[in-house]
Amino acid sequence: MTETVTRPADDWWRSAVVYQVYPRSFADADGDGTGDLNGIRARLPYLAELGVDAIWISPWYPSPLLDGGYDVSDYRDINPEFGTLADADALITEAHALGLRILIDLVPNHCSWEHPWFKAALEAGKGSPERDLFWFRDGVDGQPPTNWPAAFGGGAWQQIDDGQWYLHMFDISQPDWNWDHPKVIEEFDSILRFWFDRGIDGFRIDVADSMAKDATLPDVPLRDGQPTREKYVGNPFYDQPGVHTIHQRWRAIADEYADSPQGPRVFVAEAWLSPPERLAQYVRPNELHSAFNFDALRASWDAKDLRAVIDRSTGSLWAVGAPATWVLSNHDTIRHRTRYGRALEDALAGAGVVPTDLALGLRRARAAALLELALPGGAYIYQGDELGLPEVEDLPEEVLDDPTWERSGHTSRGRDGCRVPIPWEGAEPPYGFGPGEGQPWLPQPADWAPLTAAAQSGDSDSHLNLYKAALKIRREHPDLGEGRLSWDDESPAEVLAFTRGNFRCLTNLGSSPVALPVGTEVLLTSSPLVDDQLPTDTTVWLNTAE
Ligand code: NOJ
Repeated sequence: MTETVTRPADDWWRSAVVYQVYPRSFADADGDGTGDLNGIRARLPYLAELGVDAIWISPWYPSPLLDGGYDVSDYRDINPEFGTLADADALITEAHALGLRILIDLVPNHCSWEHPWFKAALEAGKGSPERDLFWFRDGVDGQPPTNWPAAFGGGAWQQIDDGQWYLHMFDISQPDWNWDHPKVIEEFDSILRFWFDRGIDGFRIDVADSMAKDATLPDVPLRDGQPTREKYVGNPFYDQPGVHTIHQRWRAIADEYADSPQGPRVFVAEAWLSPPERLAQYVRPNELHSAFNFDALRASWDAKDLRAVIDRSTGSLWAVGAPATWVLSNHDTIRHRTRYGRALEDALAGAGVVPTDLALGLRRARAAALLELALPGGAYIYQGDELGLPEVEDLPEEVLDDPTWERSGHTSRGRDGCRVPIPWEGAEPPYGFGPGEGQPWLPQPADWAPLTAAAQSGDSDSHLNLYKAALKIRREHPDLGEGRLSWDDESPAEVLAFTRGNFRCLTNLGSSPVALPVGTEVLLTSSPLVDDQLPTDTTVWLNTAE
């Protein structure tokens, strides 16, 4: 393992930079238009050279891919479209040899309707033990048991031929497990051990706040006449106290591996919960190790907002002994280059509906990257962020694959725009995503040639090389990674400025250039200084002389 002195092996996860691979869209070794594990293996040297510490691979399991693999039909195998278990073993070994840890996705709230246990439940009929593993209920006067809304649109209950309904908080193809059932609990214990024994370093827990349900099945309140999906305290399907029992159990399993030569196995929670004090409950010392902090992703490009997010999230996470984490984009959100190119109020709006200045977005994305990587704790990079990819907002309707498109009655295009396959090299699609000229499962824009990894690698000013330079400094600088920060309050209000030992970071979100503090040496800037001053939408990393 390529550990550095600043990252003791046991604590790697507290400050790790984790790169998210969305396997369908990362790299296609066999040329069928879909990314695969051998494609990831071939690009491991790229990731090692980029300088990340770990890779999180979105679901790689057998799946009909009706929700991009978050609909799992077998938790102990690899989707044949992506490869084999032998490929996974090789990937884990090769990644470890390059000093990269591997996290995989665990999807415990629901499976696919192709999972054999769900198929057996459908077959077995009303009142059977097979149905007890899921949420099957009779309706009321032909209506579903509750008014709960599903995440992708429509109601959360699907009626089957014998009149019963089953619960699916996401797509109809994703039945929810019944976590009150001991067989479900034991099954997931065994799945965790299966993968830990194969050498993975941890799991990202999908919708970690959702497995436990209020079994009395109360309706949710209406907002504007519609059942709400708000995560209010007491919501019957989110953040129920029972989720913590599950996480404590999993922590004990991970801790069984703590003394293995590979070091501790860890969890990161995906839970879109506010305020951060609620999220902090998931990362208490006997629960999950860390959690994505989505508040930075949701914050606007505004110094006051960002500072408030940084203070509140670090405050609540540190209070329970957990590290902070920073996330700017992932496979569910509009890429941040595009978000930052929009007016504040439009930043998270749906695809194609608001004007976007991609040059401004890129400049801010560069500044945000240096800000993110300077903050205390861990950081996540979504594949393609290091290339400055924008959201693809003009995918033709006929290629849209996200269930949101159908379930919303074609009113929301969904998340495909951030899942367009990565451009690696060459002048036209498929830009080296796969061999030859076969086209990928989602079409790539015709103007991405300058964004390919190959085109950027030779350009010292490229987005890719900014990431590489930042990650190198982050690895080597003793004051970066885990730790604390103190705000430099003499800076103007529109400048985020903080100190960490001999390291200082300034981000200028105001409209005028600002002077750099005296007696500092410039380590890196996201855009060039102008007359030795820090221009608008720029971050600088500084070293303070001893
Ligand atoms: C969160 C995942 O990130 C998302 O892609 C998925 O659709 C839902 N959970 C359901 O599994």
